[in-house]
Amino acid sequence: MTEKFIPLIDVRQHQQTIAIPNTLSAPNGSLMDSFSRPLHDLRISVTDRCNFRCVYCMPKEIFDKDYQYLPHKSLLSFEEITRVAAIFLTHGVKKIRLTGGEPLLRKNIEDLIAMLAQLRTVDGKMPDLSLTTNGSLLAKKAYDLKKAGLKRVTVSLDSLDDAIFKRMNDVDFEVSDVLKGIEAAHAAGLGPIKINMVVKAGVNDHEIINMARYFKDTPHILRFIEYMDVGASNHWQHNEVITSEEIVQRLNDAGIPLQQLPANYDSETAQRWQHLDGKGELGFISSVSKAFCQDCSRARLSTEGKLYTCLFATNGHDLRALLRSDEQYADLSIASVIASIWRSRTDRYSELRSTQTSNHVVTGKKIEMSYIGG
Ligand code: GTP
Ligand code: 5AD
Ligand code: SF4
Ligand code: SF4
Repeated sequence: MTEKFIPLIDVRQHQQTIAIPNTLSAPNGSLMDSFSRPLHDLRISVTDRCNFRCVYCMPKEIFDKDYQYLPHKSLLSFEEITRVAAIFLTHGVKKIRLTGGEPLLRKNIEDLIAMLAQLRTVDGKMPDLSLTTNGSLLAKKAYDLKKAGLKRVTVSLDSLDDAIFKRMNDVDFEVSDVLKGIEAAHAAGLGPIKINMVVKAGVNDHEIINMARYFKDTPHILRFIEYMDVGASNHWQHNEVITSEEIVQRLNDAGIPLQQLPANYDSETAQRWQHLDGKGELGFISSVSKAFCQDCSRARLSTEGKLYTCLFATNGHDLRALLRSDEQYADLSIASVIASIWRSRTDRYSELRSTQTSNHVVTGKKIEMSYIGG
């Protein structure tokens, strides 16, 4: 059999040049894309670095010591991030999530959180400010994050078994240290805490039952995530996916029956379930078997200030060029650019993937999860 190699191109260089629209219009707190999907969430990647090398995200053979991370001057500064976030809020964004790489590796991240916590939505409320982390630095930082104004955290944890977890994070990190981080986050009041488990067939799928049992008696929400074909470096294959339906079945077969709960909001990624006895909420994120593009209200800002309108996009819109331009563009100009990008948005990658036999519905090279965040 010939082995298939996917050539990696540095898609971080791919971008669309942005033109300021001729007519500028003030944001009115509501922005719809071409499929009438509102803009409600902004996910901001604050670093492309991570101290883990999860096999499905930053495999060691690519993210090795020679890998060229973005230089510090390329990253948006805290002031720039806050300015962009404030503009997004004027368009109706209600939720802001900080991601990475590993966001807690960004120096003084609590200062950024404190700046974002000062912002208000169009309804005058504090945005729902959350962060996705691998938990490695959480025990140390949870209290300061809370004090700075962070509302809640989501922690990635793929197994409770040290051997499997270490094989997945590929840096020998121990489960107990992540659990200590989760405890610290709980003690600091950063809840409800969500635990994200990416299920990869033959790697950690036999941990599904253990994880469900363990988290049942905690206040945390365990979410099973279908392994996705995000980026190009993980060499994703369809037969490595365990569908949500299969997970529900496996839990049922193991004497862990579940019942479905109503959605909290339209664009929720997870379908909510709980144990039949009313204990322990669980989430199922079925982006492969049951795409949720229809309600996708998420915009993503990369570490270097490019706006992506889909996790599977190949092109970003270079907002940083506007922020740093000699023209000194006013917020209104940048807001108009964002409005024009969002209005013409047609992304629905996961839906298209599920209607095709192959996963090649994208012609360019997809961005990596470590660059754009989850
Ligand atoms: P809440 O605000 O707590 O509801 O968080 P969330 O579920 O929106 O966000 P989170 O970052 O925890 O998402 C969990 C996982 O769902 C991610 O790690 C991805 O695997 C997947 N995911 C999130 N957003 C998208 C998306 O827009 N498209 C696809 N295909 N997958 C997504
Ligand atoms: N498929 C699904 N989820 C992924 N994540 C990273 N790579 C993938 C993938 N290929 C998720 C991790 C983490 C977040 C940062 O992104 O579980 O929760
Ligand atoms: Fe790091 Fe998260 Fe990617 Fe794992 S999934 S390598 S913890 S960014
Ligand atoms: Fe949104 Fe793209 Fe994910 Fe669909 S594939 S839910 S459009 S980010």
